[in-house]
Amino acid sequence: MILVTGASGNLGTIVVENLLKQIPAERISVLVRNPLKAALFENRNIKAHIGDYSDKASVIKALQGVEKLLLISSMGADALQEHINVIDAAVQAGVSHIYYTSGALNRNVKKSLLGPLADSYMTTEDYIIASGLKYTIFQNGLYLETIPFFIGEEVLEKGIYFPAGDGKASFAKREEMGEAIANVIAEQGHENKIYVTTAVPSHSFGEISQMLSELSGRKVTYESPEPEEFENQLKEFGLQNEDIYYSQILAAIIKNQEYNINVSDLENLLGRKPTDLKAYLKETFLP
Ligand SMILES: NC(=O)c1ccc[n+]([C@@H]2O[C@H](COP(=O)([O-])OP(=O)(O)OC[C@H]3O[C@@H](n4cnc5c(N)ncnc54)[C@H](OP(=O)(O)O)[C@@H]3O)[C@@H](O)[C@H]2O)c1
Repeated sequence: MILVTGASGNLGTIVVENLLKQIPAERISVLVRNPLKAALFENRNIKAHIGDYSDKASVIKALQGVEKLLLISSMGADALQEHINVIDAAVQAGVSHIYYTSGALNRNVKKSLLGPLADSYMTTEDYIIASGLKYTIFQNGLYLETIPFFIGEEVLEKGIYFPAGDGKASFAKREEMGEAIANVIAEQGHENKIYVTTAVPSHSFGEISQMLSELSGRKVTYESPEPEEFENQLKEFGLQNEDIYYSQILAAIIKNQEYNINVSDLENLLGRKPTDLKAYLKETFLP
């Protein structure tokens, strides 16, 4: 039996859909927080457990008879402790193999601006490795699907206004990361491996503006304002505080080269070349 956590989220949904192409629904189970979401899985013959990473007992209960567990990372302030709960629960319940979605972080960065999230990724990886469970870790790059959120749908007319400087990051389609993760879980093997799941090379937002200019035949500008000016501008636009925070932190970590890595296993795991940034921009902004 396989258990997918975070199955109601963007990535988890894609993993489950891809698992269903390779494995009978009766061998797939999920952990979700919301009973309404659980019913959607149960309707498709997928066993749905209600539970929360912060409630270890609920996770242990869900893990009875589970051989393979996919832990999709949490994003909350307590992410690290939540991950530790799930890993401890897996050991206690006798899970054989844990799969975990981490971040494709540039380990050469001296001082991370990602705050507790960087620590939660790296410390969770170490904790899994020390747990004695068989493991496969996926170091995911940034989702291409988040780019429209940062540069806006009217980017061809208005240009890019984003304080990422000359920082580069590796991006890949969440769809393709989820597909690769499902392929690995469905197969035997992949024990004690760390895979970098992103598309390479990495690119800057200046390069994104150049690609959009080439694709559209227009001059798409890129301006990287000071962070305070950016924050004030987003406030003027009426964005929610949470969205402002998310945009600022993403820009800052990209500027700090925290996702600037140029190695990847995604092509091997997918069995084809992943969608590159330019192709994604074309299908998204110039369909
Ligand atoms: N690489 C990137 O660019 C990028 C961007 C954003 C996030 N991430 C990371 O990647 C993860 C997956 O991405 P995503 O797009 O699928 O995110 P998402 O759509 O927000 O999904 C997160 C999933 O985790 C579940 N979850 C969160 N905290 C939980 C807890 N304490 N107990 C049980 N379930 C919990 C959520 O359940 P509910 O449905 O109940 O909320 C949801 O199903 C994120 O959680 C985050 O750590 C990566």
